[in-house]
Amino acid sequence: MLKIGLIGCGFMGAMHANCYKVLPDVEITAVADIRREKAEEIAAGTNATIYGDGMDLIAQADVDIIDICLPTFLHAEYALAAMDKVKYLFVEKPVTLTVAESEQLLKKQAETGCQVQIGQVIRFWDEYVALRNILAEGKYGKVVNANFRRISPTPEWGWQDWLRNPTLSGGAAQDLHIHDVDYVLSVFGEPANLYSVRNTLSEEKSYVNTLLSYDDFAVSVEGTWGLPATHPFQATFRVVFENAVVENDGGKFMLYTADSAEEIAIEKKELATAAAGGNISDLGGYYNELLYFTTCAANGKPVEQATLSDGAASLKFLLTKELAFNA
Ligand SMILES: NC(=O)c1ccc[n+]([C@@H]2O[C@H](COP(=O)([O-])OP(=O)(O)OC[C@H]3O[C@@H](n4cnc5c(N)ncnc54)[C@H](O)[C@@H]3O)[C@@H](O)[C@H]2O)c1
Repeated sequence: MLKIGLIGCGFMGAMHANCYKVLPDVEITAVADIRREKAEEIAAGTNATIYGDGMDLIAQADVDIIDICLPTFLHAEYALAAMDKVKYLFVEKPVTLTVAESEQLLKKQAETGCQVQIGQVIRFWDEYVALRNILAEGKYGKVVNANFRRISPTPEWGWQDWLRNPTLSGGAAQDLHIHDVDYVLSVFGEPANLYSVRNTLSEEKSYVNTLLSYDDFAVSVEGTWGLPATHPFQATFRVVFENAVVENDGGKFMLYTADSAEEIAIEKKELATAAAGGNISDLGGYYNELLYFTTCAANGKPVEQATLSDGAASLKFLLTKELAFNA
């Protein structure tokens, strides 16, 4: 049984806890949050020891894995300390606030050998995994064009409203848009050229559109969290191949060919235990990414997906190429 120490029990900490509660052979044995009531909510029904500051958990808890779900501006400090403590560390995305900080983490990894996974969860989301496989198979011919879109109302849940403070979160462009940027880099690699426009009317209304050009096709990536609260969150993509279109409109996942329009089946996973209601599919890519991570840890295997260097490379691309384009 792997012992998990979870630091940060807000929105994402609660999501991770729900996953750990249904994952096989893992147990949350320590939780930390400076808002005690948040830690207590997650510890309820477990034997987890509750800590206040995450540094106390790192110093005192007997754990195999540390999972950091802290606000982004705290990732570097806590990840550096955690890498001295455990062999397996999970850090939510974006890896850090700055490129210099992610380079510090890479240096620490070289010293400690700690296996680190970053929460670039789109790499594990069923539709995006299916698209990766379709691209690898190449059975629909060459890519003609691709579009990825992630648009959202402004997030209002953050502790002390840290998310809406760009000096603490990087703003929408860094916090939300990095999901698609990371995925696009993971399947298409670095583009030959890019053109990016960011509407900076106000930080809150920040809207990014980037066109990445490859050999003979372009990928457009669009992101914002400047929509009114009445607008639904939407994460969509469309990839046009020579002989088919693969489209995820956020509701249906479709394959269009010359002869047919059919839904692409995604296997629904049944609940592993009766610990939590609902279907594991409700936990989406979060379950998949933590299943991968904990399986690596249980078997003493290296983390090879959504690695620290992947997360650092995506952050560097976003900050030094894409967002710097019109700076
Ligand atoms: N992968 C995704 O889809 C996704 C979605 C949302 C957020 N995130 C990322 O997850 C991370 C956390 O975001 P969130 O939305 O959960 O934020 P949040 O504000 O809801 O939660 C952060 C928690 O950290 C606690 N905290 C602050 N300082 C602490 C300290 N020193 N020690 C212990 N606890 C402390 C706060 O009390 C709060 O409960 C961020 O990096 C964010 O970008 C990822």
